[in-house]
Amino acid sequence: MIRNRRSRLAAWFALLLLVPPLPVAARPAAPDRPWMDRNLDPDQRARLLMAAMTTEEKLTLVHGPMGRPRLGIAPPERALGSAGFIFGIPRLGIPDLQEADASVGVTNPGNVRPGDGATAFPATIALASSWNRTLAYSGGAALGDESWRKGFNVLLAGGTNLVREPRNGRNFEYMGEDPLLAGSLVGDHIRGIQSQNVVSTIKHFAFNNQETARFSVDVQIGDAAARESDLLAFELAIEGGKPGSVMCAYQLVDGRYSCENDWLLNQILRKDWGYPGWVMSDWGAVHSTEAALNGLDQESGEQLDRQVYFGQPLTDAVAKDPKYRAQLDLMVHRILRSLFATGVMDRPATRSPIDYAANSRVSQSIAEEGSVLLKNEGGLLPLAGVKKVAVIGGNAQFGVPSGGGSANTTAIEGPGLQIPVMGWGTLGSPRLMVFHPSSPLEALREAMPGVEFVVNNGDYPSSAAIAAKDADVAIVFATQWTTESYDVPDLTLPHGQDALIAAVAAANPKTVVVLETGGPVTMPWLGQVSAVLEAWYAGNRGGPAIANLLTGRVNPSGRLAVSFPVSEAQLPRPSLTGWGTSADRPSNYDHPIPLPYAEGADVGYRWYARKGLTPLFPFGHGLSYTSFAYSDLEVRGGRTLEVSFTVCNTGERTGADVPQVYLTSIAGSPEPRLIGFDKVRLAPGETRRVTVTADPRLLAHFDEKGHRWRVAGGSYGVAVGASSASFSLTGSGAVTAGFVKP
Ligand code: BGC
Repeated sequence: MIRNRRSRLAAWFALLLLVPPLPVAARPAAPDRPWMDRNLDPDQRARLLMAAMTTEEKLTLVHGPMGRPRLGIAPPERALGSAGFIFGIPRLGIPDLQEADASVGVTNPGNVRPGDGATAFPATIALASSWNRTLAYSGGAALGDESWRKGFNVLLAGGTNLVREPRNGRNFEYMGEDPLLAGSLVGDHIRGIQSQNVVSTIKHFAFNNQETARFSVDVQIGDAAARESDLLAFELAIEGGKPGSVMCAYQLVDGRYSCENDWLLNQILRKDWGYPGWVMSDWGAVHSTEAALNGLDQESGEQLDRQVYFGQPLTDAVAKDPKYRAQLDLMVHRILRSLFATGVMDRPATRSPIDYAANSRVSQSIAEEGSVLLKNEGGLLPLAGVKKVAVIGGNAQFGVPSGGGSANTTAIEGPGLQIPVMGWGTLGSPRLMVFHPSSPLEALREAMPGVEFVVNNGDYPSSAAIAAKDADVAIVFATQWTTESYDVPDLTLPHGQDALIAAVAAANPKTVVVLETGGPVTMPWLGQVSAVLEAWYAGNRGGPAIANLLTGRVNPSGRLAVSFPVSEAQLPRPSLTGWGTSADRPSNYDHPIPLPYAEGADVGYRWYARKGLTPLFPFGHGLSYTSFAYSDLEVRGGRTLEVSFTVCNTGERTGADVPQVYLTSIAGSPEPRLIGFDKVRLAPGETRRVTVTADPRLLAHFDEKGHRWRVAGGSYGVAVGASSASFSLTGSGAVTAGFVKP
């Protein structure tokens, strides 16, 4: 009865939610709050508000504790329960900043809000592998809407670190290895989040590319290489998404901690890029009060630092030193202008009912569009005409895995399967392997009525082989759990799953492997299996998404956002730098571990091309149940390159393709770079003309001496293809020499 009433209520609210948020109409501001005049720009409004603030109030906004109990410190009473909290100033209408993680759903760390689940979106690397900018926006909007309706006005989202290290435990939170792909999709995602009047961060600025020794590695990279790679991804995403805040990273860059790195924060972010918002620290990433002068505006999760540097020490510095007084004004201005610019002040986050069904549809679309069909020999997929299917391993009966750490999201349906992972130390508690309760096995059963399913847990290769032997098809679900704080030591599948797959494939060559991993893995068994689908961490609708892809209700259209190496020997760093050091914070911060980036800007496919290596699967690769052909290439030169061509669906099914445009050479010297892409959905026989215009920075080298991007004049080689290693059209265009401001 109660349930019925609840579900009627839920249905009624769901209807209400179909109405989009009302545009915020300009209302006259109350005379005592002139900053609430929406006709003024965010900077004018911030200035008016600051004029009404005391120094003490200003100091309140620049630091705050965690929003949940941690290290014996209870969160402030007003905290809703989340990663971070900054006291607002009710007298002036400045709301508390309720900061929640973020990357793949609104998190509920340690169940601090008992039972409060959220839409668990697929891994960010799945979203990147969709190459679909519209979907990135809708994913962001759904996440932003959920955050707003849970009362959180700051989302710690926007993971942009490039995949330089395939063993990185957080690759699932990032958007792959290419600056253009990552930069565009992160920008769209952030734009989506902020469309709901919630601030999004972009993080972790910059070069937090591995978790091993993340508090103490010192990334060494030159200015030009930095700007042409990770920083370019951030730059493009900041231009596109206009995030209210940038979160600086844990590790050092060229000898300085990221959160007090004048070069990163003041010179590049502020001066070169003109970024107007605020820089918040990562949790436990502040090492001094001087960080304020070096560009940090807000100390987050302050109990994790050795002292609250932006508390009493900053108060004292402001009282004594005019330099700090002026800096405090700058810091507060940046925070307030972002709160105005994103509408946080005008449409305060309010706890209200959430249309989980609608958000889950977005989640499922991301899983469907972001899964990548890597191999499909003999057209085994989509499954058709089969009578008996063996489903093996991966807890497929229970759900799909999710990534761990601060991004770990509790699904609306509950946490599903939770397996604590052995370990200790300050980072022991986040080690919880969670499977969202969306069972691929159940979804397959529903999608294939009348088919007999044999189930085997995959613990013993010999018994799995027996289960597979007389089935028409064997599907092995292979999982790799990855998490913040820990990298994987190598790219093999854990728990003997490589041997399991080999045994199953030996018993039945009609073996399909569904990979559920946080990033690339090696596949010693690849030659023995018929099909491989990389489904990443597929989120709270992962089961149906995987079943739809395997049965052909949905035609796969994902393309790899990251190269898969044959083995670790192909990587710029065959072994992890710092491996074996404790993942905990070091007790002595004065001994950084150098992490030189010998690959410079040649991340991922660019590295393979430079070294003449053939990866297992190249960046951009992904198959479909139909086929596409490209023709009629036109390359127009000038200040930049404009590339047009025709895509045709030459197969028998409707499907979406991701034609990719690469620069191949500049004046004869090889220079592989993605310079444009599109996602086009075509019916059989349908054609579409696609045109992409390259951002001139993608054609340029950064000229350190001249402090600008230099586009060399000459002939630029261009290719259109289905991946970074398969080109079907090639041409060239003459580009005129030019400069772009940094
Ligand atoms: C992570 C951030 C996260 C923060 C708050 C840190 O450990 O690096 O990405 O937003 O915690 O949970």
